[in-house]
Amino acid sequence: MANLSLLLAAILALSLSPVMEATTLKDFCVTDPNSLGCKDPKLVEASDFYFSGLHIAGNTTNPAGSKVTPVFASQLPGLNTLDISIARIDYAPWGINPPHTHPRATEILTVLDGSLEVGFITSNPENRHFRKVLQKGDVFVFPVGLIHYQRNVGYGNAVAIAALSSQNPGVITIGNAVFGSTPGISSDILDKAFQLDNPTISYLQSKF
Ligand SMILES: *[C@@H]1O[C@H](CO)[C@@H](O)[C@H](O)[C@H]1NC(C)=O
Repeated sequence: MANLSLLLAAILALSLSPVMEATTLKDFCVTDPNSLGCKDPKLVEASDFYFSGLHIAGNTTNPAGSKVTPVFASQLPGLNTLDISIARIDYAPWGINPPHTHPRATEILTVLDGSLEVGFITSNPENRHFRKVLQKGDVFVFPVGLIHYQRNVGYGNAVAIAALSSQNPGVITIGNAVFGSTPGISSDILDKAFQLDNPTISYLQSKF
């Protein structure tokens, strides 16, 4: 009986404690590259919580004209279990970050330089499209899982910082996933899905 009331008191205390809102009951769990568990806290150093390089512009010489520089748990081991990460995105003039989703994260984007047209689309059946042009200093949020995109609508380079609510948000780029999977989705399926003919689907598949 004493044990039971102790247990109930402990559950009550924990449910009231803000610590319980975190996914971890420890201060941190730096990824141990050998075991992939937590590194011994005594061996953890400041460098485990550190990443350098977001001052460097990504190379946007590619068909989309954009480059994402991620700082996820694989780049910064101290992010492990903390449900947060960050990325720098560079855009050449008129470059795009093509429609994609993050299955595990909401994204909040801040424009550091330039002008970006951004948008996201809600779930079926509405598929409502929210769209806005952002200037330097503007902030926009893309809710978890929804398809979203950005385009540089200026004549100079644009730069943004994205914060994401996962240490490993995942990225599904719609075109690559649908037309560039390995092995490919049967073109008969894509024909019907997109109401297109076989040569058009083959063409799209060749592009990804
Ligand atoms: C940027 O990427 C392009 C295409 O891959 C490459 O040709 C070019 O050398 C790269 N530029 C720099 C500065 O790395």
